[in-house]
Amino acid sequence: MSGIKNQINLNTLPSHIAVIMDGNGRWAKMKGKLRTFGHENGVKSVRETVEACAELGVKYLTLYAFSTENWNRPKFEINALMSLLVSTISKEEKTLMENNIRLQTIGNTDSLPSKVRKELQQLIDRTATNTRMTLVLALSYSSRWELTEAVKAIAAQVAEGKLKLESISEDIINQNLQTVGMPEPELLIRTSGEHRISNFLLWQISYAELYFTDVLWPDFRKEHLYEAILSYQQRERRFGMTSEQVNA
Ligand code: FPP
Repeated sequence: MSGIKNQINLNTLPSHIAVIMDGNGRWAKMKGKLRTFGHENGVKSVRETVEACAELGVKYLTLYAFSTENWNRPKFEINALMSLLVSTISKEEKTLMENNIRLQTIGNTDSLPSKVRKELQQLIDRTATNTRMTLVLALSYSSRWELTEAVKAIAAQVAEGKLKLESISEDIINQNLQTVGMPEPELLIRTSGEHRISNFLLWQISYAELYFTDVLWPDFRKEHLYEAILSYQQRERRFGMTSEQVNA
């Protein structure tokens, strides 16, 4: 697979890539280990993906690290994921600073354990002025939760007379989402052979190209990301127009 990176056209890179990191549990099971072993090994794939995106010049990378639905997993697994988050966050500060990467989160972070919240906030504050790339962690995130919150916020503005009903637009909705200020993802990657969106960025991926790979998340490496970007670059994005219009 060497040389595949050179085939990427740096002028037509997606500015925002979103990833559903899936398959940690199955990867561990295949090795006769606990599911948490899969999550631990998924951290290396996170590092590789962040590094590869920053090196290429991708501006936003969003990783689905913990969904609202993940709270239904066994307590042991939730605790392991939370500890992994804290240890990874504190270990990665140096790398994020050296590589000029800003950290942000989307999701209901109020529901996270206070230790996780504290570590996250520290890293968000310390990296706030970094400009090369923004790494967005989706934590306790689901699209329906996000949209419900947006509807509540908009309804409150209308009720308080701050916003007219007729003024509600796509732009107003965008401004009330967790992703306010971010470009829409142009490429969504899901690993592990599952072909689902699982309540992830439903509004934002309206025009995203979807890329599915059978690779399990702990096996995901830079080359797999390059393959996904190449596949994206070989597609024609028409946004509802005809091929002739797009190429005119
Ligand atoms: C999905 O695999 C993966 C998760 C729910 C967690 C992802 C977390 C990490 C990769 C580790 C830490 C992340 C960061 C950002 C520091 P699964 O458990 O659903 O696998 P399965 O479908 O095979 O059961």
